[in-house]
Amino acid sequence: MDSHDWDARYGATDLVWGVEPNRWVVRECADLPAGRALDLAAGEGRNSIWLAARGWRVTAVDFSQVAVDRGRRLAAAGPPEVAGRLDWVRADALGYRPEPGGHDLVLIVYLHLPAAERRRVLDLAATALAPGATLLVVGHATANLTEGSGGPQDARVLYSPGDIVADLAGHGLRTVRAEHVHRSVATADGASARAVDALVRLERPQGAG
Ligand SMILES: C[S@@+](CC[C@H](N)C(=O)[O-])C[C@H]1O[C@@H](n2cnc3c(N)ncnc32)[C@H](O)[C@@H]1O
Repeated sequence: MDSHDWDARYGATDLVWGVEPNRWVVRECADLPAGRALDLAAGEGRNSIWLAARGWRVTAVDFSQVAVDRGRRLAAAGPPEVAGRLDWVRADALGYRPEPGGHDLVLIVYLHLPAAERRRVLDLAATALAPGATLLVVGHATANLTEGSGGPQDARVLYSPGDIVADLAGHGLRTVRAEHVHRSVATADGASARAVDALVRLERPQGAG
């Protein structure tokens, strides 16, 4: 899907992903001390706004103007100090140039791209990490096609935890966690089903440039 497709998807619904932060972002980031965060493919900003409310200074990047405008509006409706900690950037993650070493946390949450493009975004994300910083990648797993429900059905844009670790080999990052995680989702007929996500958490070791 290109940015126009995403604009159309966001334009067709009020809040596509809701205001609550993603559960895996909460699980992995709640204990991190606030610093500078970069949220690549931030969508309507549910995770960025949650981080900003916890004191993080966040740059939220997405190539959908509709999503970025909505995120900015959502944040503006909340406490001014939270909105003031957020920068909204409309940009393609493939060409975005984050400040090298300028972030304590980089999030890539449910961004689904063909493998070569995914690697490019992961390379950029890795360069953005300061020593001691965390990179959290979460998305629908390839295994979701056979063992789960919902999400993209095109295997070319899905990945396993091992794919992400392999993509980032050579960046000198430490793998903290690389695993499949499960959540329950509602199906179209209102039943409950299981979704399989890939979750990878990495750290740039302290003292590394
Ligand atoms: C499934 S949504 C996830 C949004 C957000 N991370 C969340 O968890 O709520 C995927 C987002 O990726 C964005 N996106 C897809 N390809 C992109 C690209 N090349 N550059 C920037 N954003 C992109 C879309 O516009 C969309 O907002």
